[in-house]
Amino acid sequence: MSEPLIDPFGRKITYVRMSVTDRCDFRCVYCMDEVMTFLPKEEVLSLEEIYFVAQAFTEMGVNKIRLTGGEPLVRRGVDDLLVQIGALPGLADFCLTTNGSQLERFAATLYQAGMTRLNISLDTLNPLLFKELTRTGKLEQVLRGIDAACRHPFKRMKLNAVILKGRNDHEVIPLLEFAIARGIDISFIEEMPLGHINEHDRAATFCSSDDVRDIIEQAYQLTPSDYVTGGPSKYWQVAGSATRVGFISPHSHNFCGECNRVRVTVEGRLLLCLGNENSVDLKAELRERPGDIEHLKRVIRQAITRKPEKHHFTTDGAVDIVRFMNTTGG
Ligand code: GTP
Ligand code: 5AD
Ligand code: SF4
Repeated sequence: MSEPLIDPFGRKITYVRMSVTDRCDFRCVYCMDEVMTFLPKEEVLSLEEIYFVAQAFTEMGVNKIRLTGGEPLVRRGVDDLLVQIGALPGLADFCLTTNGSQLERFAATLYQAGMTRLNISLDTLNPLLFKELTRTGKLEQVLRGIDAACRHPFKRMKLNAVILKGRNDHEVIPLLEFAIARGIDISFIEEMPLGHINEHDRAATFCSSDDVRDIIEQAYQLTPSDYVTGGPSKYWQVAGSATRVGFISPHSHNFCGECNRVRVTVEGRLLLCLGNENSVDLKAELRERPGDIEHLKRVIRQAITRKPEKHHFTTDGAVDIVRFMNTTGG
């Protein structure tokens, strides 16, 4: 095992989020435009390259890998990648963020591959609104996927809901009660200005975590929880239930001081912060020196010395990040 990865602000990097595809079978209004052009195959890391990058990171002390997308489970051959990454030594947590559309088919495979944590996006329980927000998704299919996943004892399951004022803020309590009934956690997420979307005015629909908390506290008692995942969520326990509620509030509460993560985009860019364009092209290095893991590790180590101190998101809808969420992986 090599030396751990420590950035210039003394933060130890133990968590890598890897986007395995920019493609998705949904077109969520806050993530994509209705018509999207996806990357050509040669610009996307191959499954072998993704595995190689994962291996390099775990050899440098990374113990948590989360696969994201687009929708990771729509990539052909992802089953083999799951098994390979799941078997990497030193990996304490193997996680997936998914829209749930393929979960019914994949739940058993994920569990057998050693997946520990599953985050499933769910913004509403109303089929019509679900269609409106995801444009192409079917609520029924996702609910069947969640039920299938609940039949396996994953260490943790969590729902993710992006709340937009005037669109789905009335769904906060139904979503919370859905999570409570299944004994799983739920995070409420403030929309982030990634990529130019045309569908709505981000400033007009912005719903802060404090707004969501006010809605919840009219019906439920929340007690502070010391639960930490190494992620940016702050957790509260719903009194009398097994459910924790997380708030991901990049705008209202800055969590950069404890940041332990970096991201690898589907094009093999090592992104040092979600809210910053600073990145290093791992794909070029991989293709120039295929199979040279020590070289790759040196490049990564050097890149970490450039990790910025914090993100620069604003709430007025201003975007200076042109990347869409689906290439970044959230
Ligand atoms: P854990 O890290 O396992 O707790 O999961 P998570 O909730 O962070 O991950 P998930 O993939 O479910 O992402 C939920 C939301 O959190 C997404 O909208 C992400 O974009 C956002 N998010 C995750 N990490 C960061 C981060 O470092 N900075 C910001 N601004 N947002 C993040
Ligand atoms: N702001 C906040 N969250 C977003 N997600 C996708 N786009 C955005 C955005 N612009 C969420 C998805 C999913 C997670 C990976 O990121 O709903 O839960
Ligand atoms: Fe797909 Fe997730 Fe983006 Fe929705 S938020 S379009 S499910 S990648």
